Amino acid sequence: MPRNIAPGEKEWKTVGLHDWTSGFWPGILWYAYEYSKDESLKKEAKKFTKPLEVIANSSADDHDIGFQIYCSYGNAYRLTGDESYKTVILKAADTLATLFNPIVGTIHSWPRKKEFPHNTIIDNMMNLELLYWASKNGGSQRLYDIAEQHAETTMKTLVRPDFSSYHVGIYDTLDGHFIKGITHQGYADDSQWARGQAWGIYGFAVSHRETSRADFLETSKKLADVFLGRLSAEGVPYWDFDDPDIPQAPKDASAACIAACGMLELVTLLDDPKEKIKYKNAAIEMIQKLSSDDYLSRDQNPALLLHSTGHKPKGKEIDVPIIYADYYFMEALLRLKKLEE
Ligand code: GLY
Repeated sequence: MPRNIAPGEKEWKTVGLHDWTSGFWPGILWYAYEYSKDESLKKEAKKFTKPLEVIANSSADDHDIGFQIYCSYGNAYRLTGDESYKTVILKAADTLATLFNPIVGTIHSWPRKKEFPHNTIIDNMMNLELLYWASKNGGSQRLYDIAEQHAETTMKTLVRPDFSSYHVGIYDTLDGHFIKGITHQGYADDSQWARGQAWGIYGFAVSHRETSRADFLETSKKLADVFLGRLSAEGVPYWDFDDPDIPQAPKDASAACIAACGMLELVTLLDDPKEKIKYKNAAIEMIQKLSSDDYLSRDQNPALLLHSTGHKPKGKEIDVPIIYADYYFMEALLRLKKLEE
């Protein structure tokens, strides 16, 4: 599956099915089909969705099974109603649920990282939608309970008192207490990694939609307010809001795309017209900036967007096109179209 385009290259670099990003390419094809109703795109979307079945049926390597299956099979079922897709989604939800630790109250995001007894990352909020969906569509109530508990524990531990957020939480497996917050992909343990904050905005909005809990809605709004308060006038965030190299630091277009989707989800959940307009306009401003010549790849390469940053501390994917930026950009455009309609 396509993942990124290296500087100076013209083609997508591809990865295997077990890579955390493997669901985004089929998801992009489903979004393209949703917009165009072009049957040839549907055929491609089906072709690239099918092989991911192996992920649902493997034991869970980590929480990313949610991204891998919900973006591919989730969109496939939503757009076709084909029951064979539903079977795979339900299996994937049960697989993800095996990573839940009831003592801590969260899903173990990265079991392979053995240096920590139990870790949970803010990104994991995005994978609760798979569990909520499954519990409403033939899966067990336990999947809903796990998702709600995970969101609550994340809110109490990874969301800081000022509504910035830690990337990774480390927890004690004996009594479940939160040991500390650290970073993996951000600048520092106490800095604000832009994409992490964006995952939080979107993830807590979905958890409110599914549970009607006011504290999840409040958390999503406050995370969004911090994100918008730290966004430069330029409209797309630096990869980490606290990188001392700003304004020379790289941008992360993917964080803007994810935050825009989260804010457009918020718009559908809020009652207050002033709040609705605030988050809708903020999302539109980001989408407009991303749709300008500064960010669109056009004929430079086959991606939609330039300027995303995947893992700066490791020196990987810095200021390049990345597949999930394109996926959430398309999602944001479709969300906006539906809101306008
Ligand atoms: N979920 C991994 C990332 O945002 O890079």
